[in-house]
Amino acid sequence: MRLVLLGPPGAGKGTQASAIIEKYNIPHISTGDILRSNIKEGTDLGKKAKAYMDKGQLVPDELVVSIVKDRLLEDDCKNGFLLDGFPRTVNQAEALDEELANMKLKLDHVINIEVESSELIKRAIGRRICKECGATYHIEFNPPKKEGKCDICDGELYQRDDDTEETVSRRIEVYLKETSPLIDYYTKKGIIFSVDGKQSIGGVFKDIVKSLG
Ligand code: AP5
Ligand code: ZN
Repeated sequence: MRLVLLGPPGAGKGTQASAIIEKYNIPHISTGDILRSNIKEGTDLGKKAKAYMDKGQLVPDELVVSIVKDRLLEDDCKNGFLLDGFPRTVNQAEALDEELANMKLKLDHVINIEVESSELIKRAIGRRICKECGATYHIEFNPPKKEGKCDICDGELYQRDDDTEETVSRRIEVYLKETSPLIDYYTKKGIIFSVDGKQSIGGVFKDIVKSLG
């Protein structure tokens, strides 16, 4: 199954992605995660991307498109994949369509997670991530059993640099302007469905599975 997860910052894309890839046995391709690991490793790409990410702006299309093109050619994507946080502009969506057409493939579904802005800010500010395994928690909505420690691997939890109120607000504005037009783009193609992201994590997942059939 070839899937795209669409939704504003903090909507729960990464959280749902973990459950989806496990159930459907497909790789998780998160451009945000790939960019953050490049920043951590100090690569050229990471250095270029950091300035944009810290300000809540999008990294230029050409940089992200080439990451995804390379990733889609890897062996584990042969039987499907879940793109999370890509595409984020109409330009990126067109580049993806073109690349898939070259590979004689098509997207099966686009999952759109809907959550209103006031809730998104609460979710992003309270998010904590495991330094070791990347598991995501929320101090109020999905707290770890031991404060500051991961339930899975006991790793230390940290907060993302771009999860401040100011940067999250900026990311939401960028989403509305640059990314939300993709809802129309995929509606015209007839491959998108929306789920109510305000439900519990399990409730959102149930709706996604129901729609995927
Ligand atoms: P990216 O990493 O993609 O971030 P994002 O889209 O802003 O999304 P988030 O990771 O913030 O949120 P999420 O929807 O995954 O929510 P999560 O599951 O963690 O991008 C970061 C930056 O990288 C961008 O700003 C840009 O600069 C750059 N970038 C990345 N891709 C790019 C691209 N294609 N083009 C250009 N630039 C790009 O959940 C959030 C919190 O809520 C967690 O604490 C979670 O526990 C909690 N939660 C989740 N679900 C629920 C629920 N149902 N109820 C209650 N709490 C919940
Ligand atoms: Zn962990």
